[in-house]
Amino acid sequence: MYDFKIAAADTATLYRDLASALEGLLAGEPDPIANMANAAALIWETLPDLNWAGFYRNLGGELVLGPFQGRPACIRIAFGSGVCGAAATTLQPQRVEDVNAFPGHIACDSASASELVVPIVRDGKLLAVLDLDSPHTSRFTAEDEAGCVRLAEILAHALRYASSTSSAAPQDER
Ligand code: SME
Repeated sequence: MYDFKIAAADTATLYRDLASALEGLLAGEPDPIANMANAAALIWETLPDLNWAGFYRNLGGELVLGPFQGRPACIRIAFGSGVCGAAATTLQPQRVEDVNAFPGHIACDSASASELVVPIVRDGKLLAVLDLDSPHTSRFTAEDEAGCVRLAEILAHALRYASSTSSAAPQDER
């Protein structure tokens, strides 16, 4: 059983503890779906005021829904579409204070009011995006963005086989 309950006094400590819990949770496991599933659950359990936390994978230049927590969501998102598509195209985090003011925002859940999407990039290639939604406007601060960028760095290593269909790592990389 894993018990990663994190209670931190401030946001910087929260993300530091979250990053170290994530590293521990993903250590030694090459399967990207298992790692995204556990990462989504850990983030969902740890960060307050979220109504969705999960992943879209880059499958052949299209974003396809990956493991998540929250309500069922749109399955396929084109690069350039919505907040996730903007993160995929620019390879830059997208922090949106009010999703209703974001041109082309894709409303999977009408409860979502603000959103943070961070690309997960390895060797210059997009593997996936981490998407967090909140029912509160301006939920995500610059500190949240920096914290999630750190999570994305950890995930970039753990999800290096995200675009492959095999759950096993190549023999020479285990
Ligand atoms: N709102 C996102 C779509 C994904 S859902 O939030 C889970 C977007 O505009 O890309």
